[in-house]
Amino acid sequence: MKVLGVESSCDETGVALVEADASGVPHLLAHALHSQIDMHQAYGGVVPELASRDHIRRVLPLAKQVLSEASSDLQDIDVVAYTRGPGLAGALLVGAGVACALGAALGKPVMGVHHLEGHLLSPFLASDPPEFPFVALLVSGGHTQLMRVDDVGQYELLGETIDDAAGEAFDKSAKMMGLGYPGGPALARLAEFGDATTFDLPRPLLHSGNLDFSFAGLKTAVRTQLLKLGSNVCEQDKAHLAASTQQAIVEVLVKKSLAALKSTGLKRLVVAGGVGANARLRDMLNAECAKRQCRVHYPELALCTDNGAMIALAAAMRLQRGIASAGPDYAFDVKPRWDLAAV
Ligand code: KG4
Ligand code: ZN
Repeated sequence: MKVLGVESSCDETGVALVEADASGVPHLLAHALHSQIDMHQAYGGVVPELASRDHIRRVLPLAKQVLSEASSDLQDIDVVAYTRGPGLAGALLVGAGVACALGAALGKPVMGVHHLEGHLLSPFLASDPPEFPFVALLVSGGHTQLMRVDDVGQYELLGETIDDAAGEAFDKSAKMMGLGYPGGPALARLAEFGDATTFDLPRPLLHSGNLDFSFAGLKTAVRTQLLKLGSNVCEQDKAHLAASTQQAIVEVLVKKSLAALKSTGLKRLVVAGGVGANARLRDMLNAECAKRQCRVHYPELALCTDNGAMIALAAAMRLQRGIASAGPDYAFDVKPRWDLAAV
């Protein structure tokens, strides 16, 4: 079975072809991605209307590229999967529209996929895939959640952010420091030149006793420090602030992940979503989990941020288990807001 995956929920157009047999982990045949970062950079964030229009331009050329790289053609596709939500409504409609049109034209079934389920399962495409059950730390631009994952489709929410997401905390802090968009990677690069102990920033909800997160207060603390430093803040102080901010976010993510492992008694942690690319987070998690004889799994770096491979994979894994069916229902809708636990 070959599944074509189309991702268009935000600022990346991703298309991929995944192959799966009745059992075993599906494998990736090819994937292609177009990032809109350059286009949105001038505005300091994603402009939804521009995102939708760019997805329209990119999705078919990317599909052609993927099929050619996989030495396949349209007739080889068995199922067309697309991101149904959550995400930007207009952007989601582009992927859903193209996927359903393609399915209808080819007479092949289509299937809507939850974007976060794609992130959560993406480590299964890595060379050392995890086994169920595990704790998942989902850290993207819009979500910060800890889940207990017993199998595909069996997700129990353990805790989540009550305000900003971890990626948002990176992005908003970076923006205040004049580092551009997306801020996470830029802030992480600058942090390499700073000392994380320079600024004493809050670790929100660190000792709350539950597995929820809060990052809105951190953003305010960064703004306060920047105001204190004044308009002609030197590069070194900025680097110190970047390192301190990153450390505050990472420490909370690590502490809560360890608490989730302890409370569930599980020994495996899966980290997924864009912030999972952060090197400091990976270093700390690796070190702390090793001390506790726990394993940590990450997606391949190229599949940490949004991509079509994770969408095709999630569809294939659901189909393999018979917990979802792809149908000839081409009357698509999208779900800009969609709770993963309700999938
Ligand atoms: O999962 P993703 O690609 O998109 C969403 O579904 O939101 O995550 C994007 C987020 C952004 O907030 C971005 O700044 C952050 O992931 N990010 C990082 C790094 N790479 C991406 N944050 C910290 N360090 C990184 N290296
Ligand atoms: Zn994402």
